[in-house]
Amino acid sequence: MWHQLVLAAGLVLTGSLAGIALDSTAIAAEKTAGEAALVERGEYIARAADCMACHVGPNGTPFAGGKPVPTPLGNIIATNISSSKEFGIGNYSVRDLTGVLREGKTPTGKHLYPAMPYPAYRGLTADDIEALHAYLQTVPAVEHAPEAKTNLDFPFNMRFLMIGWNLINLDEEVSASEKDRGSYLVENLAHCGICHTPRDDMMGSDETQYLGGSQLGRWYAPNITSDEFAGIGGWSEEQLADYFKHGQAGYIAQAAGPMGEAVHHSLQYLSDSDRMAIASYLKTVPPIADDQQENPVFDSRINTQLIGRDPVVIKATRFEPEELERHGLKAEDIEDPDSAPGLYQQHCAGCHMDDGTGQPVSFYASLQGNTALRSANPRNLVAVILEGVAYNGATPRPLMPGFEGELDSQEIADLANYVRVEFGGHTTSNIDANQVNHIASGEQPVSGLIRYAPLLAWLGVLVAVLLIIGLVWFFWARRRRQHAPRASRHTPKNKVRP
Ligand code: HEC
Ligand code: HEC
Ligand code: HEC
Repeated sequence: MWHQLVLAAGLVLTGSLAGIALDSTAIAAEKTAGEAALVERGEYIARAADCMACHVGPNGTPFAGGKPVPTPLGNIIATNISSSKEFGIGNYSVRDLTGVLREGKTPTGKHLYPAMPYPAYRGLTADDIEALHAYLQTVPAVEHAPEAKTNLDFPFNMRFLMIGWNLINLDEEVSASEKDRGSYLVENLAHCGICHTPRDDMMGSDETQYLGGSQLGRWYAPNITSDEFAGIGGWSEEQLADYFKHGQAGYIAQAAGPMGEAVHHSLQYLSDSDRMAIASYLKTVPPIADDQQENPVFDSRINTQLIGRDPVVIKATRFEPEELERHGLKAEDIEDPDSAPGLYQQHCAGCHMDDGTGQPVSFYASLQGNTALRSANPRNLVAVILEGVAYNGATPRPLMPGFEGELDSQEIADLANYVRVEFGGHTTSNIDANQVNHIASGEQPVSGLIRYAPLLAWLGVLVAVLLIIGLVWFFWARRRRQHAPRASRHTPKNKVRP
């Protein structure tokens, strides 16, 4: 009996121990599954927020930092945000990351410049920040600081000035929850306005021109408000979503330059429903018109004509006589390799065809109807000729080579004028070599306030130094008077006294 009791107790004990063990492995498995899910969600958020666009290292090393972010104040170098405890953000708590993303302030109290888009990330939800943190802690540590250092001129090198900037430019409220998926993506996570909304005099974003178009070095991030002529009013939501996935909408819009990078690093990885949410939201953004824009930038009818075209890949032909006549040209014009049509024949027609319809089936863009040509702003066309178009998006596509170095500024100007009038719906186009040089320089217009800030700051320093010298002199003179021998000070007074 006694033995049986012990045996029974033993069995019960082993059973429950096994149960506990099974239970705890189940809990542990559940926990790691939960963590893995959190990390995976964080990776998606890092993609959508395009942290890599700026924090990628020189050889494409994830999050190693070192890329210069150009601003009118000078280049600001993105930092190492890998999981290195010494050089990256391996020691960050969720709270530390929240401080950076919402206030632009690191745990050591350093104020960041808004080249790090915290004014947009400020609206990220706590859940998303937590997931982002979990993911960033898993990225391989890069155990060195970026070689380049941020080196701004006085007074911009004084980071505490950002306290004032933040007071003026940051939204007061940090929204705790996601309002609507589209606006959350556009305004916060994917921070479209950082590129597409122009800056005001203080370098904050000019919300009266929300998504109204802004210069970015050589490039121009176009108006993407719902305006029918100047904006994306003429695009369907599907075309917009397609552009975010493939870097191409129909045959008439390609994402080059910084937008190509946004597609490449970020937008192609979003879910279809997120891309559609962005598209539907853009259609609701109040239109901003542009008097300069005579024709709609994006004309879907041209796209439809191209779709209807015989999809046979034709070889580039020389101009036929009747075509010459249509272009108002003579045979001699074409034979002159330096004439605009001659330049087009030599450098562009091989891929884009004589009639500019390209070879849509094999992804050689159509120039007819192309938004870069139809825009009143010639900047992106010139930038494309200079730099070409690199692969981006979810389908492999041929590259367009850049012509910087091969063509001079006058030739680029001639070509740009030619294709704008021939294929871009403009009646005239007057780009000259100076304008091409200016665009190539990437020079950014700066407000008077920013331009003269160094002068004003130095004047301020001068005034302060003079004030200090004046005060020192004043107190020194006073002390001298106080310490001077009494007699000599009082004699004259005594004289006057009765
Ligand atoms: C448009 C470019 C850009 C994007 C996009 C960007 N950053 Fe930054 N980030 C910067 C720059 C530039 C700095 C350095 C700013 C400075 O020196 O004031 C920086 C600094 C930081 C720092 C401070 C590191 C330290 O301790 O000094 C952290 C953390 C950070 N970024 C995280 C992120 C995360 C996370 C994302 C994505 C959610 C992101 N960044 C997206 C440009 C960017
Ligand atoms: C890093 C800067 C940058 C960011 C971030 C960015 N864009 Fe762009 N965007 C550009 C530039 C530059 C162009 C012009 C590209 C070209 O002509 O090839 C462009 C082009 C576009 C176009 C095509 C306009 C046209 O007329 O052809 C759309 C639509 C667009 N962007 C939407 C967005 C949306 C939505 C977001 C946010 C999810 C976004 N962009 C984020 C810089 C940016
Ligand atoms: C070797 C083939 C090739 C040559 C030569 C070429 N292109 Fe392209 N071009 C392309 C391809 C391919 C694309 C589309 C890239 C993509 O969709 O990613 C493109 C795109 C474009 C775009 C649209 C870019 C945008 O942002 O919307 C323009 C404008 C353009 N090319 C103009 C020209 C001009 C002008 C010339 C002559 C100086 C020229 N191309 C020469 C292949 C070429």
